[in-house]
Amino acid sequence: MDKELEKQYYYIAKAREIVKEKSEALGRPLTAGIVTMGCQMNARDSEKLNGILTAVGYEVTGKEDADLVVYNTCTVRENANNKVYGHLGYLQNYKKHNPEMKIAMCGCMMQEPAVVEKIRESYRFVDLIFGTHNLYKFAELLVQMLESDQMVIDVWEEAGSVVESLPTKRKYSFKTGVNIMFGCNNFCSYCIVPYVRGRERSREPQEILSEIKAYAEDGVCEVMLLGQNVNSYGKTLENPVSFANLLQQVTEIDGIERIRFMTSHPKDLSDELIGVMAGSDKICRHLHLPLQSGSTRILKDMNRRYTKESYLALVDRIRNAMPDIALTTDIIVGYPGETEEDFMETMDVVRRVEYDSAFTFIYSKRTGTPAAKRTDQVPKEEVDRHFAMLLSEVQEAGARRAKRLEGSIGKVLVEQINRQDAGLVTGRLENNSVVHFPGGSDLIGQIVPVYLKECKGFYYIGEMR
Ligand code: SAH
Ligand code: SF4
Ligand code: F3S
Repeated sequence: MDKELEKQYYYIAKAREIVKEKSEALGRPLTAGIVTMGCQMNARDSEKLNGILTAVGYEVTGKEDADLVVYNTCTVRENANNKVYGHLGYLQNYKKHNPEMKIAMCGCMMQEPAVVEKIRESYRFVDLIFGTHNLYKFAELLVQMLESDQMVIDVWEEAGSVVESLPTKRKYSFKTGVNIMFGCNNFCSYCIVPYVRGRERSREPQEILSEIKAYAEDGVCEVMLLGQNVNSYGKTLENPVSFANLLQQVTEIDGIERIRFMTSHPKDLSDELIGVMAGSDKICRHLHLPLQSGSTRILKDMNRRYTKESYLALVDRIRNAMPDIALTTDIIVGYPGETEEDFMETMDVVRRVEYDSAFTFIYSKRTGTPAAKRTDQVPKEEVDRHFAMLLSEVQEAGARRAKRLEGSIGKVLVEQINRQDAGLVTGRLENNSVVHFPGGSDLIGQIVPVYLKECKGFYYIGEMR
């Protein structure tokens, strides 16, 4: 076994002893809550945190009034940061009522020195701070935290070796995310991710494939391959492998019925990938293809390395190969220097593509990124007006697209008993849309055909066939 991995297993055993002692003294199990913000990467990281917490003997609940709360933070936009400070405010209260309580903070926000400084100065009741590059050391850091009264801070500026194969606990028994690469080299001018997640690193295909095989044997039927730009997967490996090739190999794993991936950068989406997708019915007919802007001028400034025309041509190639594919996207409104004309180009792309759904974001200035130095910020009233126009356009298109499936039969992976009505189950179509239909818990984790009786805007009411 890898030396570092061996060390972490030693700390897992050590943390387990400390947790056991504490819970014996208290006469009850110790509880832990993980609060996850941000993207699928963080969701996956939280499964790793959960795996370690469970292995050391914590009872992991979703609650924030636990003996240990872990905040897995996001910093992609300013409001993500503000949310964290808001939570910390009321956590201080919980801590007053439970002297045993510990607070740990990790994730992308902790990779920013100014954030760590602020917590160190103004939120002295936080017990542990660590970053994205040393998450695998969580057990070791837990031991340090449990043995000390001081705030423990361990944040690395750069990524070390990739340490995988520690315990993980999946949120769902039947589906999971799988990291195929970490970090990002694209440096889009507005984006903080390359600074907080480090340089692009791909995992060896054999490691990824054996991880997925083990999941399949353990009952997983859906995997989501994760990376900030999966289309550049494998380019820097000693023996380069394309993403399309990796994907093809994943389709060959028995027991894996559905494959998704996130995120696809339009600049490197190859025809080879389109071919592999079109040729396999295990790969979901869904592609998330972030546009960001429809203006070639703005795209250039954003360092996205595609144009309005090349994006539209790509959409055509994808739809020619897979006419039924669902397309979703991300769009930023109010990028510095964005004019009325630029915004209209975005609206034009949105109208032409007719996305199944779109995440729309107001540009948020991230200190340290090139765009933050720009002085030509768009006035708030104009941003708000554009944002409202864009939102209503994408919502109308989404509703039209959703309506088209009404009356057809779709394959649904059943996820859970419906939260409002225990006679219903809730699951997802290949295009990720939610469907509710009559059924029981025996269906959870199964993929079943469902007649989509009624479209209710963004979800469906169905009947099993
Ligand atoms: N790697 C993915 C995106 C990850 S961040 C990609 O390249 O597509 C998710 C989304 O957040 C981005 O697609 C972008 O639309 C949005 N985003 C990133 N930085 C932002 C900023 N500074 N302001 C507003 N939205 C931002
Ligand atoms: Fe950010 Fe661009 Fe990398 Fe996506 S590709 S994470 S938007 S820098
Ligand atoms: Fe946020 Fe980090 Fe993801 S900044 S969007 S959680 S990579």
